[in-house]
Amino acid sequence: MKKLLTFIVSSALALSLVACSSQSTVEESVTAAAAETEISADTNASEEITAQEEISEGSVLVAYFSWSGNTEQMARIIAGETGADLFEIVPATPYTDDYDELLDIAQQEQADNTRPELSAHVENWDSYDTVFVGYPNWWSNAPMAVYTFLESCDWTGKTLIPFNTSAGGGFGRSLSGIEESAEGAELLEGLALTESELTDAQNRVTEWLKGLGLSL
Ligand SMILES: Cc1cc2nc3c(=O)[nH]c(=O)nc-3n(C[C@H](O)[C@H](O)[C@H](O)COP(=O)(O)O)c2cc1C
Repeated sequence: MKKLLTFIVSSALALSLVACSSQSTVEESVTAAAAETEISADTNASEEITAQEEISEGSVLVAYFSWSGNTEQMARIIAGETGADLFEIVPATPYTDDYDELLDIAQQEQADNTRPELSAHVENWDSYDTVFVGYPNWWSNAPMAVYTFLESCDWTGKTLIPFNTSAGGGFGRSLSGIEESAEGAELLEGLALTESELTDAQNRVTEWLKGLGLSL
């Protein structure tokens, strides 16, 4: 009995170590989490671990800013469909929860062309070739924190694919700003969904990724 307990505890420890070491240094990898589940359920653990390692070495990142969750919803679908890592762009000083106040703050930040400081940076940036960048439309532009993110990265040789959610304005005039701030990146065709289109987000994202040749 004691031997059995020791075996169970050491197996659990070994699996949790595998899970930790495979975790991306960015926020999380949706697909890696799915692979972890498979590992604990499957008897052929070594095969699964190999698959997991391949996934965690994936060269696709989904970086997104989201205030009320819509863009995050899209980001998670994209990560799930491509096996990408997720990175949330979070300002060091969080935005207010008050919508009306936020409207004024966002407008003022745009007028001042502010670059709000971010709470974290992508640590293993060099390992990514393709980076999806998502954000909501704020006053027909991207939130200024997205520009801070873009300008803090070296885009040489990277492919940038924008995505966006809005009440109806789509990318607005953000794409020219994105192109300017991500100097050196190759920009591919993005996807903008309105709030009402989000109910069909899974299908819309899948079709778009297929068109780009980027689904798993
Ligand atoms: C400060 C602010 C400004 C906005 N400006 C616009 C706009 O100019 N045009 C538009 O279509 N939607 C605008 N919206 C609506 C958002 O783009 C939309 O709700 C988006 O899906 C929110 O994404 P999120 O949940 O990821 O934050 C604005 C929202 C906020 C909070």
